[in-house]
Amino acid sequence: MPEFVGAVDQGTTSTRFMIFDHDGNEVARHQLEHEQIFPRSGWVEHDPVEIWERTNSTMQNAVRQSDLSAADLAAIGITNQRETTVIWDPRTGQPYYNAIVWQDTRTDSIAAALEREHGDLIRHKTGLPPATYFSGGKIKWILENVDGVREAAEDGRAVLGNTDAWVLWNLTGGPNGGIHATDVTNASRTMLMNLETLDWDDELLDIFGIPRAMLPTINPSSHPEAFGSTRTTRPLRTAVPITGVLGDQQAATVGQVCFRPGEAKNTYGTGNFLVLNTGTEIVRSSKGLLTTLAYQFGDAPAVYALEGSMAVTGSAVQWLRDQMRIISSSAEVETLARQVEDSGGIYFVPAFSGLFAPYWRSDARGAIVGLARFHTNGHLARATLEAICYQSRDVAEAMEQDSGVALDVLRVDGGVTANDLCMQLQADILGVPVSRPVVAETTALGAAYAAGLATGFWESTDELRLHWHESKRWEPQWNDEQRERGYAGWKKAVERSLDWVEV
Ligand code: G3P
Repeated sequence: MPEFVGAVDQGTTSTRFMIFDHDGNEVARHQLEHEQIFPRSGWVEHDPVEIWERTNSTMQNAVRQSDLSAADLAAIGITNQRETTVIWDPRTGQPYYNAIVWQDTRTDSIAAALEREHGDLIRHKTGLPPATYFSGGKIKWILENVDGVREAAEDGRAVLGNTDAWVLWNLTGGPNGGIHATDVTNASRTMLMNLETLDWDDELLDIFGIPRAMLPTINPSSHPEAFGSTRTTRPLRTAVPITGVLGDQQAATVGQVCFRPGEAKNTYGTGNFLVLNTGTEIVRSSKGLLTTLAYQFGDAPAVYALEGSMAVTGSAVQWLRDQMRIISSSAEVETLARQVEDSGGIYFVPAFSGLFAPYWRSDARGAIVGLARFHTNGHLARATLEAICYQSRDVAEAMEQDSGVALDVLRVDGGVTANDLCMQLQADILGVPVSRPVVAETTALGAAYAAGLATGFWESTDELRLHWHESKRWEPQWNDEQRERGYAGWKKAVERSLDWVEV
């Protein structure tokens, strides 16, 4: 009997393959970065062929390094950066254009027109506000701007998907019988799926001008057959069933075992994503959150969520490293920020992709406010960490107002949670304890859980709950006056970023 489950995590900056044992412990991992392509200000692209190559290599390397063979894997799950859109030729496997990444703002005018003409309809059907973030506008842009794609789509020579569908299609055979499918969580981020029917919505397809035949089949997130098996050539040379597919933030929700309504997690990656399980009920937001799918396991009813998406958090640290060059590794931001006692009254609003939740303003731009001759790199590093935490507070407040449930503890995961100072600031800024589990790689773990539940490797979500253990907790140390003064300053800084108009 195979004793392990594997998970592909195709993220914004890297792709990794991880292997877990029956207790949910990590057995192996391998990770490779891919290029971030910035052809113009506001444009962000990935090369889909590079992503597929990286997926192959990480799968092979993780299996090799663990001394296991692919036959030891009972199942594989796939999780992915959501919304990022690929259109390819199913006869050759060649993409027609680079993947347009979720952070890309080129569809600003498409989003504005959708808001004017169909804003309420789109919000009601999809749970999403028209914004550059989602896939629909990106697909429309490629169909309208890349030569030959519209004709190819009308002749059945173009199909599309987010990176889950791209990786799945390639893993299951590509042009030789690859499966063109996605799951409800990924589909819920396209702006084309109806939240109630869990199917592509003809009225929306008509509004966006997207032929239905281009779209993948929508399956539950965990299913024993719907996603097929890995092909018997590269990377694994063995047919391993692929039985779980879900977007990375939903996977982290599963990995954090947030299976009951009212349970929430905050993942600190390129962006931050706070997701609250709302059960089988669709809860509509009046405070700028998204209504989205949390997961659907097999034939059980779909579970919904409220989500607060923050576009730029960990990537603001990368910006300090790659563009400002004031640190040489992301981890160094903590050392630098510790050189000062506080941010010296400056605020950094990293609205590089506009501002997402709860503001949804594609036209907002980044701002650093309150600067004096006194300020140093240390203050900027600290303001960057605080920006991650203040954005999370904006979203937590909206979530409390929408759901009526006050957070008593914040479950966290993702790369930035290794930053002790940032987690302490998060507890201080929110005024609630912050708790990190032993396995902080909850995204890959959640994809493995979805896959293992489908094959009976794990029996139930109750069994998975037993794997969750706290590794560290941060208690708030600021007093209320400090907390509210700090937050009032942040709100003013956000206004500056919203006021900015390009001249
Ligand atoms: O919605 C975008 C999100 O799925 C990306 O997550 O972890 O790749 O930044 P991450």
